[in-house]
Amino acid sequence: MSEISYMSDGPLDRVRVLLGVSGGIAAYKAAELVRRLRDAGAEVRVVMTANATHFVGVATFQALSGNPVRTSLWDESAEAAMSHIELARWADEVLIAPASADLLARIAHGSADDLLSTLVLATTAPLSVAPAMNQQMWANAATQANIAILRQRGVRVFGPAVGSQACGETGEGRLPEAHELVAALVAARGSRLLDGVRVLVSAGPTFEDIDPVRFIGNRSSGKMGFAVAAAAARAGAVVRLIAGPVALPTPAGVERVDVRSARQMRDAVIAAASAHDIFISAAAVGDYRPQMISASKLKKSGQPLALELVQNPDIIAEVATLPKRPFLVGFAAETDDLERYAQEKLERKGLDMIAANQVGESLGFECGENALLLLWPGGREQLALADKGALAQSLIERVAARRTAKLEHAGNP
Ligand code: PMT
Repeated sequence: MSEISYMSDGPLDRVRVLLGVSGGIAAYKAAELVRRLRDAGAEVRVVMTANATHFVGVATFQALSGNPVRTSLWDESAEAAMSHIELARWADEVLIAPASADLLARIAHGSADDLLSTLVLATTAPLSVAPAMNQQMWANAATQANIAILRQRGVRVFGPAVGSQACGETGEGRLPEAHELVAALVAARGSRLLDGVRVLVSAGPTFEDIDPVRFIGNRSSGKMGFAVAAAAARAGAVVRLIAGPVALPTPAGVERVDVRSARQMRDAVIAAASAHDIFISAAAVGDYRPQMISASKLKKSGQPLALELVQNPDIIAEVATLPKRPFLVGFAAETDDLERYAQEKLERKGLDMIAANQVGESLGFECGENALLLLWPGGREQLALADKGALAQSLIERVAARRTAKLEHAGNP
């Protein structure tokens, strides 16, 4: 037994934190972090990489956490007591501090070549990383690309802090102090605004086939909708994501259904809508599809080719007519007259809220940042240009507040 007792009612009361410690001089600071996490009420289990054991002894973490420390996938007695899969399931939170450049690279690319990287792949718990390294290593384009991948996937990144480094240089790359990391984890968990609420999100484009090799599509990358799904999951929601054809990893804790065409998206959304409390329609659904899909590749004829297009179902407008309809949040993508067209869509489609974004060259579509004008019956709010992850978080906070207001108004809080 450890001599440190849990603090009940702390901000991390009974939260099971799997603390990953990777190799770097800042590993010694993780010892203080274990104490601080436990003071905040968390139960802590520590997993060290082989490199981390060169900086701090296993016994230190064992004593401070009050639990056995794992360092390898191949420790038979430890696996028998609690297998790595059980450990992955046990965690409510995975926090890696310090996260070295090498570890960030491995988890960004899905490696499972040691216990810690395997646990990261095997867990559905939210993942937070606190990078710590030499400032040049942090600034390196490879490290920044890996961090961008992780952020896009919904991984929280705490720090790094700026200051003097063990290597004698000064710059960005220090591990934040233990109390700052605990505060960041508490803040990131938020107030679980959507705890247990069922949220359906659509994202990405739809592809409307012309023949076996060609289709009509659009420039949506899915980033905005995936960020919304990740933010809803972080807020405690049970999230189902209906994804058009995109090349994005599934956010942690989100159930994903892949579709291709607007009609497939319609079927997946309608089948699920009534079982959800909120539907956020961030997908750029193709309004038209070719009337006929040619069974074989169309050949050049030397003549103009006319494609007859028919209108696709308006998915969100159809959800609005369901007897048991969720709280409905649409998006509006406009090149001109943003507010007027968005207001018109809010009313015509019978929505509870619409998030309007200006799209065009390097705006809205594909890029990592966006700005949203939120409109709802009787109100508006501008969310300034921000990273899509941060913006999605703000959107989810507004959606939770508007839905609560609507339920209270209906006498059903
Ligand atoms: O994916 P990214 O690259 O990150 O880009 C994000 C985005 C710009 C695609 C996203 O922020 C966005 O604006 N998504 C909605 C795009 C769109 O189709 O807007 P719209 O104004 O055409 O449609 C209005 C609303 O009706 C949307 O919620 C849309 O999902 C829905 N709709 C549209 C047509 C249709 N047939 N069925 C629908 O449900």
